[in-house]
Formats: sequence, C-alpha cells, structure tokens
Amino acid sequence: MNAPASPLRVEGLRFRWPNGTPALDNCSLELPGPGLWMLVGGNGSGKSTLLRLIAGLLEPEAGKIFCQVPPALVFQNPDHQLLLPGCGSELCFHLPKGQGPRQAPVEAALAQVGLAGFASRPIHSLSGGQKQRLAIASALISGARLLLLDEPTALLDPESQGEVLALIRQLCNNPPGESSPPLSALWVTHRLEELELCDGALRLERGRPGRWQKGPALRLELEGLPRGRATG
Ligand SMILES: Nc1ncnc2c1ncn2[C@@H]1O[C@H](COP(=O)(O)OP(=O)(O)OP(=O)(O)O)[C@@H](O)[C@H]1O
Ligand SMILES: [Mg+2]
Repeated sequence: MNAPASPLRVEGLRFRWPNGTPALDNCSLELPGPGLWMLVGGNGSGKSTLLRLIAGLLEPEAGKIFCQVPPALVFQNPDHQLLLPGCGSELCFHLPKGQGPRQAPVEAALAQVGLAGFASRPIHSLSGGQKQRLAIASALISGARLLLLDEPTALLDPESQGEVLALIRQLCNNPPGESSPPLSALWVTHRLEELELCDGALRLERGRPGRWQKGPALRLELEGLPRGRATG
C-alpha cells in the first residue's frame, strides 16, 4: 500500500521583512502525511512567518510551497479573526458561495466543534475556548483541509486549552471512508505538554527546521535545555 500523500512540502524558503530582518533562510520541510504536526522554537525563530507564508499572506523571496489541500490560519487570539456579531453569520460568511441552503452546513460545522445549537448566539457571549472553536469551525466550513494554528491555546485557561487540543486531535484522526481529503494540522506551541498529543514535532531554530521527532521525545529534549532556549 502507498504511504498517504503529504499535505504540505516547502522547499528552500527565504523571507526577510521589509526592514531587512531575516525570518527564514533556506527553510525546507515536509509534513510526513496527514495528521497533527507541531512546531516549536524560541521567540523570533520564524514559526508565525512560516505559517503566514504557507497561508499565502506573505510572498517568499525564494523557494516553493507545495500545498496539496486548502490551508487556513487560526490565530492565537480569536478576536482578531472573528468578524461578525453572531456564530451563524460568521460561519455563513466563510461558507463558499453557491453551496445552496446554508443552515445544514452551518449546523454541521458547529456540531463538529462541540457548539451544536449555537447558531444564534452572539459571539461576544462566548468564552475564549468557544471562540477558538468557532474560529476552527470557520476554517472547516471554508473547505480548509490543512489548519495552520499559531499558538491557538496561548490565551486560554487550562481547561479550554485541553478542549481545543482534544478537538483538533479528534478532527485529525480522520476516520476512513470520508469523502473529502483527510484533515491535517500544523500547530505552533510554546506549551511543551501539548507535544504529547501530536503525530510528530519539529523545532525551528533561527528559521531552520530540525528533524521530525515523536512529540514526547522532543518534549524531553527541550525540557533539558536552559529555560528560554527551547521555546522562548
Ligand atoms: N511585521 C514584522 N516586521 C518586521 N519583522 C518582523 C515582523 N514580524 C516578525 N518579524 C521578525 O521576524 C522574525 C521571525 O518572527 P516570527 O514572528 O515568525 O517568530 P515566531 O517564531 O513566531 O516567534 P514567537 O514565538 O515570539 O511568536 C523575528 O526576528 C521577528 O522580530
Ligand atoms: Mg509567533
């Protein structure tokens, strides 16, 4: 049997900010297959820049990005992402045009993230974790099959943090027989305990990725480093 195709490969990416700050230099990596993959690294190591390049928000100076499935970014702060006043209207906004009646896909997307029945709820009444799950539902309803999550739990309390991670873990488990391409996620974190749930993780250092490792093994390695060196 063939190995499942990689949803993402980047080759030789180079990016400098207009003020000359180098963020990535000859950065190459490939997701080993569908699944939940994590990226760690100190402050300024280029993690957010890499996600923005993959999402197409920035143009690389050199290098190529081969994304086999539609990507979508999920930011650290859902308030920077959610645009409309209500859960249902937010999801309708992200639903591709021409899909027919909207109610069923909106309800399905809400149910997928544990927010069944929330269509008429105002967004300001949601908890931080619920807002983050709505941001994930918006990405899913848009047709994204590669979620690029930039420290999605950094602003959440421990309980909501666990819920969001468990949700992404479950969504990336991809039961066989689904008609759409499998869902994958590239999740940036400074919280080393989150590495326990991923399919593999790597460390970015000054814009250069290391090798894929098992999450718990990378966690052990990084916990042995002086505080601040590993993940900032
Ligand atoms: N808008 C910007 N303008 C100029 N330089 C920037 C900008 N955003 C990021 N940088 C610089 O690019 C480099 C990579 O930053 P990036 O935000 O990608 O790092 P990061 O790994 O996401 O860090 P953190 O863990 O703190 O979020 C850093 O030197 C940073 O200062
Ligand atoms: Mg960042």
